[in-house]
Amino acid sequence: MSAPLSPGKAVVLERVRKSYGPVEVLRDFSLEITAGSFCTLLGASGSGKTTLLKLIAGFETLDGGAIQIGGRDVSHVPVNRRNIGMVFQNYALFPHMSVRDNVAFGLEMRRVPKAEAAPRITEALAMVGLEGLERRAPRELSGGQQQRVALARALVIRPDILLMDEPLGALDKTLRASLQRQIKQLQARLGVTIIFVTHDQEEALHMSDLIVVLEKGRIEQAGTPQELYRRPANRFVASFLGECNILTLDGTPHGIRPEKLRLGAMASTLPHRREGVVSELTFLGPHLRVTADTAEGPLTALTDADHATACRLGERILLGFSGEDAMPLADSPNATP
Ligand SMILES: Nc1ncnc2c1ncn2[C@@H]1O[C@H](COP(=O)(O)OP(=O)(O)OP(=O)(O)O)[C@@H](O)[C@H]1O
Ligand SMILES: [Mg+2]
Repeated sequence: MSAPLSPGKAVVLERVRKSYGPVEVLRDFSLEITAGSFCTLLGASGSGKTTLLKLIAGFETLDGGAIQIGGRDVSHVPVNRRNIGMVFQNYALFPHMSVRDNVAFGLEMRRVPKAEAAPRITEALAMVGLEGLERRAPRELSGGQQQRVALARALVIRPDILLMDEPLGALDKTLRASLQRQIKQLQARLGVTIIFVTHDQEEALHMSDLIVVLEKGRIEQAGTPQELYRRPANRFVASFLGECNILTLDGTPHGIRPEKLRLGAMASTLPHRREGVVSELTFLGPHLRVTADTAEGPLTALTDADHATACRLGERILLGFSGEDAMPLADSPNATP
């Protein structure tokens, strides 16, 4: 239906350093993002996510290291010559301009002739499903529609890289899920490389080819959603991405996901068992979340709600797991000062 954008480009960060005054935000930060992939930066507030995006876009300058886009060193290339689209959490639309003029803005800045710009604007608005709303002002749109204008505005320049800084943070759950699907579909169709920031671990698991978990400007672990969930390198990643019980096995720390813990009769046949007293029961619809206090601290199990009717607060319960579900955890590289 529409001409494809130029395929995305690879992004390579090589020993990138950045400080704000005495605050060192990124130290020797290296990362490779494959062309056309969806990379999510996940980390606590202040861990350096936005700083990374600003460096890639060129809004901030490097203190050291290099950034390559599509094999070209762009470390000293100005913002407007990197061909990058950006979408922020707060939409940042021009309130006094129509939807169409908001989307046209990037093309005007690039001095794209009007005759060429017009069909591209129409195409970008169609991509995000905003046909018919061209003449509206941003205040006449819902939050989700405004965010789609921001997306169209970023896509209309046909970027090699699309940077998205918590773009869905302000939206309710349903709208969020719907835009997540639309962004994934657009990405599959356009082939653009996306670097996405979120606080929402489920969003990261659903959308990403690569998840990079950051803490204090350093990488705790980078990998596919499956790798990070099933083989977290350390406690930080295990607990940051999904819920995780930490216990000692063979003298070393291991993580067990709540859905891998069995209860009662089902636990008794498993090789590793712990005894505890039920201290918390939460009904989650299909599942029951059961927390038991054990000699090693509280352990939480997620169990089929239908099979767990026997659990009662204050009663003793057996928890069990198999060795293959115990994930060995190293110390976090950033734990020591
Ligand atoms: N312009 C600035 N001047 C001084 N310090 C800054 C500046 N911008 C960011 N910082 C500091 O750099 C660190 C990283 O900030 P950054 O905005 O990259 O974090 P973030 O991971 O995006 O956090 P959040 O999830 O809250 O958006 C923080 O300690 C922040 O206070
Ligand atoms: Mg930020």
